[in-house]
Amino acid sequence: MYKILFATSEAYPLIKTGGLGDVAGILPAELAHLGLEVTIILPAYPACKTHLKYLTEIASLQIPSVSGLIRILKGRLPEGSNSIWLVDSPIHFDRPGNPYLGENGQDWPDNAARFAVFCQAITQLVNHPELNWQPDIIHCNDWQTGLVPPLLAPLSNRPATLFTIHNLAYQGLFSRQQFETLDLPPYLWSSSALEFYDQFSFIKGGLVFADWLTTVSPTYAQGILTPEFGCGLEGVLRKRADHLTGILNGADYQRWDPVHDSFIKKPYSKATWHHKALNKLALQHQYGLLEDKTIPILGFVGRLVEQKGIDLIIDILPKLFSNKIQVVFLGEGHKSYQNTLQKIARDYPRQMGLSISYNEQLAHSIQAGADIFLMPSRFEPCGLTQLYALRYGTIPIVHRTGGLSDTIVEATEENIQQELATGFFFEEPSPSALFTAIQKALTVYAQPDQWRELALTAMGQNFSWRTSAKAYYNLYHQMLSNRPTQ
Ligand code: ADP
Ligand code: GLC
Repeated sequence: MYKILFATSEAYPLIKTGGLGDVAGILPAELAHLGLEVTIILPAYPACKTHLKYLTEIASLQIPSVSGLIRILKGRLPEGSNSIWLVDSPIHFDRPGNPYLGENGQDWPDNAARFAVFCQAITQLVNHPELNWQPDIIHCNDWQTGLVPPLLAPLSNRPATLFTIHNLAYQGLFSRQQFETLDLPPYLWSSSALEFYDQFSFIKGGLVFADWLTTVSPTYAQGILTPEFGCGLEGVLRKRADHLTGILNGADYQRWDPVHDSFIKKPYSKATWHHKALNKLALQHQYGLLEDKTIPILGFVGRLVEQKGIDLIIDILPKLFSNKIQVVFLGEGHKSYQNTLQKIARDYPRQMGLSISYNEQLAHSIQAGADIFLMPSRFEPCGLTQLYALRYGTIPIVHRTGGLSDTIVEATEENIQQELATGFFFEEPSPSALFTAIQKALTVYAQPDQWRELALTAMGQNFSWRTSAKAYYNLYHQMLSNRPTQ
């Protein structure tokens, strides 16, 4: 039975800011169901300590740039299939709120030190005298874990390393001075290692040194080899192209299925699809909108950042509101988008619902109550919210990119008739292309039989984590079978 250490900076339900939290909240459990021993390792944020009430100290470490000992705490969620280890360095992680941002919405100024300590601690756990445990593979996720592969690389008898790119646009870039304060091996300051145009890049550590790379959809795996989606790292990635695999994420249907979703007003299934309308009325009520189940609702749930194409929606909102429609938003992010949305919401109080917050319950209520899910992302490594929307019979309108291309089937008349269609695409990330796609969707919405067909086909899609977990399992097996003896 392979032993995996799954390193992540967030995992639902302990702490979550986006899709990585969802993935880390389910993939390790699915891998455990396939017979692997998977331990999750996270920074000991206050939220993690509160969730995991019974924690025991299993090891302590000394990291040269940090005064005092760092403790490794072990816990488990009730019913959880995985052990959870927390890297407890209070000066780095014992602070309120978001794992990456301070209360002012800016990155914590010491993020380089915080996540370097996280990576150094993980590296020290390999062959640690207090632990009678050595993983076969360390599975790293995103830049916050990017220093693990380079720090392990020189060791003999080390675990294999896999680095998963959830979003190449977040790279963990810092200054050379910061590199120098962290007690990292000086040879890592090189253009063939962590140096990236004179900056210190965490993600490059993963991309250059991990034994294998994955990203979260096949189309994004191709895309990141090109200048359009490679964020300047396409050259580095092209050199690793024969060690890069796209494995599509899944949806956690235990948490995201209207049949048994305790966050929503009225559960429903394909057989009781008409109950979706009760969730619409509840959503209209919650947002103070006109309560009328014949009005189509367009929903948006996501980070208010350029990636998600929120500006494309903002651009066409006044024009959209000349239709008899409502639009509801849930998100937080850049101040300028927040302010503009607030201003428009004041002008259209009966048609636009806005919540600038992070609210798990509301995210579910929008999936259940909306008719259409807007996801005009400029790029999307995988995207989970469109997968959830499908299961709730909420038809996605998406830009044809990355994981959105891999998960949605275009609602042409023929595809609708053949019960294949699940959503609407637009090709160019422009306001007018989005507007045209929305008009197309509203035309189909006006034909209730066709819309119902579309919604039921969407609800029948199955993006189960079991399939994705098997792909990771096979990759782990391949990595370990092909290892040169050390
Ligand atoms: P990304 O990881 O790029 O943000 P994904 O679609 O992969 O996008 O995952 C986003 C996850 O975060 C989903 O579970 C979504 O419901 C959740 N989410 C995003 N914004 C909010 C919010 N403001 N409140 C609650 N949940 C949110
Ligand atoms: C990232 C991506 C998103 C993906 C998620 C989980 O945040 O932006 O597309 O679904 O990671 O892999």
